[in-house]
Order: sequence, then C-alpha cells, then structure tokens
Amino acid sequence: MEPYNETPAGKYFTLTYGCQMNESDSERINGQLEEIGYQPASVMEDADIVILNTCSIRQNAEEKVYGKIGELKKLKQEKPHLLVGITGCMAQENKGRLIARMPVIDFVLGPYHIHDLKDVVSGEKKGRAPVVMTEMNPERVSDFSELKAARKSHVFAWVPIMQGCNKFCTYCIVPYVRGRQASRTVQDICGEVRRLAEEGYKEITLLGQNVNSYGLDFRNGTDFADLINSLSEIPGIERIRYMTSHPRDMTFRMVDAMAASPKVVRHMHLPVQHGSNEMLRKMNRGYTIERFFELLEYVREKMPDIAVTTDIITGFPGETENMHQETLSLLKKARFDSAYTFIYSPRTGTPAARMTDQVPEDIKKRRLQELMNTENSISLELNRAMEGHTFRVIAEGPTKNDPEHWFGRTSGNKMIIFPKDKKLEVGMTVSVHVDKAQTWILKGTLTE
Ligand code: SAH
Ligand code: SF4
Ligand code: F3S
Repeated sequence: MEPYNETPAGKYFTLTYGCQMNESDSERINGQLEEIGYQPASVMEDADIVILNTCSIRQNAEEKVYGKIGELKKLKQEKPHLLVGITGCMAQENKGRLIARMPVIDFVLGPYHIHDLKDVVSGEKKGRAPVVMTEMNPERVSDFSELKAARKSHVFAWVPIMQGCNKFCTYCIVPYVRGRQASRTVQDICGEVRRLAEEGYKEITLLGQNVNSYGLDFRNGTDFADLINSLSEIPGIERIRYMTSHPRDMTFRMVDAMAASPKVVRHMHLPVQHGSNEMLRKMNRGYTIERFFELLEYVREKMPDIAVTTDIITGFPGETENMHQETLSLLKKARFDSAYTFIYSPRTGTPAARMTDQVPEDIKKRRLQELMNTENSISLELNRAMEGHTFRVIAEGPTKNDPEHWFGRTSGNKMIIFPKDKKLEVGMTVSVHVDKAQTWILKGTLTE
C-alpha cells in the first residue's frame, strides 16, 4: 500500500457535527493524531487525513455528512494518499455499510473506539484498510481520562462525565448509537478537573446526555449532587457548567447542591420537548407537564437569577393542532431564556418512526415557525431586562467577523459582545455593562 503507510505523519483535519459530546470527542481524536505526529491543517484541502465526527440525531445532520463525503471523493482523486475516517454516531449506526456504499472511506470507528485511532492510522492495523470497529465497550468509559485531548481552548474545557443513555425516548437514536449509560467515577472526574485547574482552566462543562442520572449505574447511592459537591471544592475552577439536564431524574437535592455552590453556573438547559402530556407519554419522557413546572419553580426559587433554556420537538406523530397550542402555552408560561426548536425527524429503528400517524411536512414547518416566533419575542423581552445592568463574563476572544470586538458569556450563558480593551486577555473575568439586547446576543461595554 501507498504513501500513508510510509509517511510518518502529515496534517489532519477534523470536522465535527452534532452535540458537545462530539466536540469533546473530537478534541480527543485530535489529541490521538497529534500523539503520532500529525499537525492540524487549517483547511481540509491541505490535510493528509480527514475525520468526519458525525451525528445521527436528525436526517439533516446526516445529509450534511453525505455531502462532505462527496467532496472528499473529489479530493482523494487529486490526492490518493488521503485517509478518510468516519467516527461518531453515524459510524456506529451504519458500520461497514458506509464503506460498502462509499469506498472513499478508509475506516469507520464508533464512539467507543477513539482509543484505537492511533493503531488504525499508524500502528499495527495500518494497511489493513478498510477498518470497521463499532463494538460497544462501556467498561472503557474510564479510559477517557487517559486519552490525550488537543483542547481548543486553554480556559474552557469539556469534561465528559458519562457515556450513553438509558432513557429510550421513542424518537431518539442516541441510546442505539451511544449505548447504555456508563458513568466515570467521581474520583476519575475530579482527577481530570484538578489537572485542568493546574493547567489554568477556569471553566469546565460537564457533559452527559442526561447528567441528572449520573452515577445511578453504580448502584451505590452516588448521584449528580455528590459530583457537584466534590467538584465545587477544586481550587482554580471558577465556573462549573453542565448539560444536559433531564426532568425525569432531577431531584430537589441536586438543585440544592447547585444552589449551594457559587461555582455552579446560573444556567440550566432543561429540555421539555412538548407541552402536551399525551405527547410526553408517547415520547416516553417519564414526566408530566405538572411535574416539569414543579421542578422549574423549585429551580427558580432556589436560584432566582438562573437562565433556563430548553429543547422542543414539533410534529411528533399524532400531534394535533390542540397539542401544538399546548406547547405554545407552555412557552408563554415557562418563559425560557431560549428554546431550540426541532422538526421531528423519523429515525430508522426507533419506535416513533414506526408510528402510523406521522404529521405532514408542511404542517410541521408552520408549527415550527409559530414556536420560533413565540419564543423569540420572549427571549428578546428577557434579554431587554438585562439592559442597563452589569454582568461578570469570562472573555472568550474576538468575535468571528471583527477582531476589535470581543465576546464572553455570563453565568447564565448569555453572550455579550463588547469593544476590545488593550489589557484584555482570553480567560480574564471582566464586568460588562449591557447597552443593547437582541434575541440571541447582547451588546455592551467593559466597565473596568
Ligand atoms: N439528552 C438530551 C438530548 C440530546 S439530543 C435530552 O434528553 O434532553 C438534543 C435534542 O435533539 C433533543 O432534546 C431533542 O429535542 C432533539 N431530538 C432528538 N431526536 C430528535 C428527532 N428524532 N427529531 C427531532 N429532534 C430530535
Ligand atoms: Fe435521547 Fe431521551 Fe436519551 Fe436524551 S434522554 S439522549 S432525548 S433517549
Ligand atoms: Fe448527534 Fe450523537 Fe450527539 S447523534 S447529538 S452526536 S450523541
């Protein structure tokens, strides 16, 4: 086989689709490649190895990846030594079928095989392409902390606390592609976070599909509240973020632990998915709207300044106009700081995809628009209430389009853009006065 086996290393380019878990996995993927001598390429065309770390959550996520694979086919014609790897959830879902359909792909590694990347690219398995590794291995969740991550930031770090999901919401592919829930131990997570603090990281984001069920798989009473309590004691870390929360497993004790910690941010992403109890039942979410509001009220009572965001699915099978109205009412009553609204996308193999009462596409689109309009005006109102007030943000760096303007996030995860100051450095905690609110961002000025 040709050049890549002989070439000790070259440049890599990793494209990440999907959720923060994938962002975090990509950092570990890149860390593995750097360990065997690869350097990052600034554009895909310069790379000797391209990795697509993929997402299966909705049809459009998968379509983007298929489009990219088409581009890579052309690139490989010009550059025959190019290695193409598919990782992440589409790798897990489609396994060898991907290579069978698209021979441009050299290897397919499921989310439990980031450890094998070095071998596949340069070690003992090299040259035996095509390689397909998709066996699920939840015991290996503890190996995560040992994998070198090429972290994008030196201030903000992702910290996966668990893999997989046991919830089996009827629309969702995640339990099939990420396997059963497997938590990392409190000790393991605290070890990683202590090292991050020593390296100067200030903000960590704990990642799990359902952080509120963290530790339940140990069956020894350990839960998310214990993790929060232990992490809060680590010096150097200023902010602890976490996502995603799930109303089913959230307890008042967890909320109390968050409220008691000055480091735990005043932001909670708490997907409700729908405003109708019948839909929630068909989705297998495991709570009612009444229970959701009971939790939400407790959260806001304990942390009055908290920003709560959510996810909503519209057009789930059997959704009537009435049920859709119930979601609109929910938005008005809950007054989320923002809501990510998605059109239901049938995923092969999930129970909802087999339900017969699918909602027509044009109705889904209209309902989505109505949800977005309602939520946008609420988000704007809540952001406007921040005008004239000053907030602490950690400076993240210049905005994409204008190096003279920087941005940072409040504890509530609101992004504020402000004119740069000479003394400003990435990671500095600064006070910003909010001058003007928009639906998605705030504009302000430094006050110190
Ligand atoms: N574990 C998280 C969600 C992860 S997926 C939770 O349970 O809240 C992120 C969001 O994608 C979900 O909250 C849901 O709103 C949306 N989603 C998941 N599957 C979907 C599907 N088949 N079609 C449309 N949206 C979907
Ligand atoms: Fe999917 Fe439900 Fe698990 Fe979230 S909790 S990842 S929506 S199955
Ligand atoms: Fe997508 Fe997989 Fe995340 S399906 S949302 S990348 S867990």
